[in-house]
Amino acid sequence: MNQNPDFYYYKAIDSTNSEARRKIGEGITLPVVFVAEKQTAGRGRRGRSFFSEGGLYMSLAVNTSEKDTVLLTTAAAVAVAEAIEEAIGITAGIKWVNDLYFDGKKVCGILCEAVTDKDSGKTNAVIIGIGVNLNVTEFPEELKNTAGGLVSPNITAKKLSEVITEKLLSELVISSDIIDRYKKRSIVLGRDISYEKNGTSYFAKALDIDSAGGLIVQNEDGTKTLLNSGEITLRFL
Ligand code: BTN
Repeated sequence: MNQNPDFYYYKAIDSTNSEARRKIGEGITLPVVFVAEKQTAGRGRRGRSFFSEGGLYMSLAVNTSEKDTVLLTTAAAVAVAEAIEEAIGITAGIKWVNDLYFDGKKVCGILCEAVTDKDSGKTNAVIIGIGVNLNVTEFPEELKNTAGGLVSPNITAKKLSEVITEKLLSELVISSDIIDRYKKRSIVLGRDISYEKNGTSYFAKALDIDSAGGLIVQNEDGTKTLLNSGEITLRFL
């Protein structure tokens, strides 16, 4: 993709994903990027809030018409990890589905949201929201053990948002090696994990990533399960 998206910058906003959704509703031209220094109502997956005090918070909104969106979540994790490596020189690992980890701590979260037409129910845009703890060194007490920062004083949030955008846009037509690149960065494969299904917790070993980005696990009784969505926990970090 060779489009040059417009960038909108904010000192503070409720949520760049929410702003993207509002602007799409007003008919803004896609692709477009919203970048904030701070979010007052940053959103994470599964209805959680996302700590957003002074890192990089951005949302790229793209049209879905001509693109393969099935692997978008998987591709977004690879693109952001590769952008961070290129811009900062830090190699982040991916925890399925698309959390980025460095030094055993989560340094970036990604929230992909579809925008659907309320009459037809058709998805007409996708918002890829990315929160990077860029140069964040202080976390609230409840996050201290799990969240980490990427410390690189020489790179600005604006610059990193540009590198990430370029990588993301080039990954929207999904390349055939995306799963290999994802697997190379996985911090989950071969590890003992736990997951929840229909309200029950299971212990398992993470075996492989399938061609659609699903996680294949082997349960304690030897059976295999394909996880297509949801969340896993690494049993020993
Ligand atoms: C997660 O780890 O659960 C996903 C976090 C996604 C956070 C980003 S920050 C930019 C964008 N705006 C939001 O409100 N959320 C995403």
